[in-house]
Amino acid sequence: MKKILSRGAEALIYLDGENVVKERLSKGYRIPEIDRRIIKRRTKSEAKILKKASEIVNVPSPKDAKKENEIIIPYIEGDKLSETLNSYPEKKQFLVMKNVGKEIGKLHENGIIHGDLTTSNMILKDEEIYIIDFGLGSFNGKYEQKGVDVHLLKQALEAKHFTNHEKLFSCFKEGYESINKSEAKKVLERLNAIEKRGRYRN
Ligand SMILES: Nc1ncnc2c1ncn2[C@@H]1O[C@H](COP(=O)(O)OP(=O)(O)O)[C@@H](O)[C@H]1O
Ligand SMILES: [Mg+2]
Repeated sequence: MKKILSRGAEALIYLDGENVVKERLSKGYRIPEIDRRIIKRRTKSEAKILKKASEIVNVPSPKDAKKENEIIIPYIEGDKLSETLNSYPEKKQFLVMKNVGKEIGKLHENGIIHGDLTTSNMILKDEEIYIIDFGLGSFNGKYEQKGVDVHLLKQALEAKHFTNHEKLFSCFKEGYESINKSEAKKVLERLNAIEKRGRYRN
């Protein structure tokens, strides 16, 4: 029997022994052949980014899958930060966010954009941060994409971890800047511009 972990708009995620299977689902409104190609392309892309990222930080590396619509990765047994961060003592919350900053700093330094940086895609296991879900990821060296990544995380902190969001974000920045100070400065400048754009739009 499959134990379903999550059923999103894009994929079904279930446990198979000690692995997680992420199976992309067909969209009934697409022409079948196009649908198949889109699913194949996205699955391949995610596996490629996972593999590269797993060489740099704690990311579950994909195993060989038999089907073109699935990714198989080891199950990470730990705390999903979206569910647990708020319940940690403050000191631990701050340390965790600093470490998240370091991990994202390393990914960005290597031109890897996550694309969906929220605490739902972060697992704490043995005091180490694991990043999952590169379904919207890309390889991109531009400050704009890195700034958008950081912006998404900031918004996620405001929405789900609001009691401490300012301090949590400043801990994130501290960790992020510790990896590559001059690059981080440029990304954070870009973040300011992104936020200004957002304000004018509203
Ligand atoms: N390797 C893994 N280890 C543990 N849990 C996982 C793993 N991969 C996915 N999950 C769980 O399944 C959920 C959905 O997986 P995710 O890859 O984030 O897909 P989606 O694109 O639907 O968000 C995650 O939020 C997490 O709870
Ligand atoms: Mg996710």
